[in-house]
Amino acid sequence: MSIRPQEPAPATPAPGKLPLTELAEMKARRQPIVMVTAYDAPGGRLADEAGTDLVLVGDSAAMTVLGHSSTVPATMDEMLVLTRAVTRGARRPLVIADMPFGSFQVSDEDALRNAIRFVKEAGADAVKLEGAGPMLSRVRTIVGAGIPVMGHIGLTPQTATMLGGYKAQGRSAEKALALLTDARSLEAAGCFSLVLEAVPSPVAARITEQLSIPTIGIGAGVDCDGQVLVWHDLLGLYDGHIARFVKRYADVGGVIRSALTAFAEDVRQRRFPEEQHSYAMPQAELEIFEHGAHAGHEEEAWL
Ligand code: KIV
Repeated sequence: MSIRPQEPAPATPAPGKLPLTELAEMKARRQPIVMVTAYDAPGGRLADEAGTDLVLVGDSAAMTVLGHSSTVPATMDEMLVLTRAVTRGARRPLVIADMPFGSFQVSDEDALRNAIRFVKEAGADAVKLEGAGPMLSRVRTIVGAGIPVMGHIGLTPQTATMLGGYKAQGRSAEKALALLTDARSLEAAGCFSLVLEAVPSPVAARITEQLSIPTIGIGAGVDCDGQVLVWHDLLGLYDGHIARFVKRYADVGGVIRSALTAFAEDVRQRRFPEEQHSYAMPQAELEIFEHGAHAGHEEEAWL
């Protein structure tokens, strides 16, 4: 009988896992928190090896890995598969599963059921959901069940149509104050952290100062408690529109393209595989084989 490793449960963080409480301490020490998205096991492992603190399995996967033009089509089933893969790769960072559109809007019960699936079936340490207002009771319900929730305000891609498109939010005093109110409400509802996306830097700085939970910025200036970038944007793997807030740290797409071109050329020129990529057999066995193959061939021809 084989003993299978235990699936992670919310009350028992895996050994070596960054404690959730450490995030508030990092904020207090003014030590920036590093978050990156990832969508598979190698991505989770690399993010871990690079020393990131948080790995978000973003619903951006709908665009970056599934080829959709927005995040809206991401489904629970797809997000569960991706999250399970990331948790197999990432050991120390907390893995946060992004709740896809439709998985938390309907009711508190539905949101809790789906959040539980991320923890039980995919090994997520926490979930993230977009919005405030009616979503505050979702946060309270999920946190009440013992699952940490990260909030997300500012540009919320799942409801970008309502916001008039993918553009910066909180650029008038009134809208900035509304963001501050939402941020305070999400903290009061129990969020352990808050993503601020595409928010003017001074507004994000004030929100960060007024909250005791850490803010993670994406297009929200340098004064947030941490920063996040999408894997494909950071590494130069995404061909679509690149937002102003993206910094590209590598051209991995270019590296992959030239490697694939070289492979194709080698195959066409019969330069690959070489001797070191191939298997040999003892000469005596080869001779017997050749003899048998030859005889079999002659027999077939006679019949
Ligand atoms: O889905 C995602 O990748 C996100 C980040 C942009 C924060 O929500």
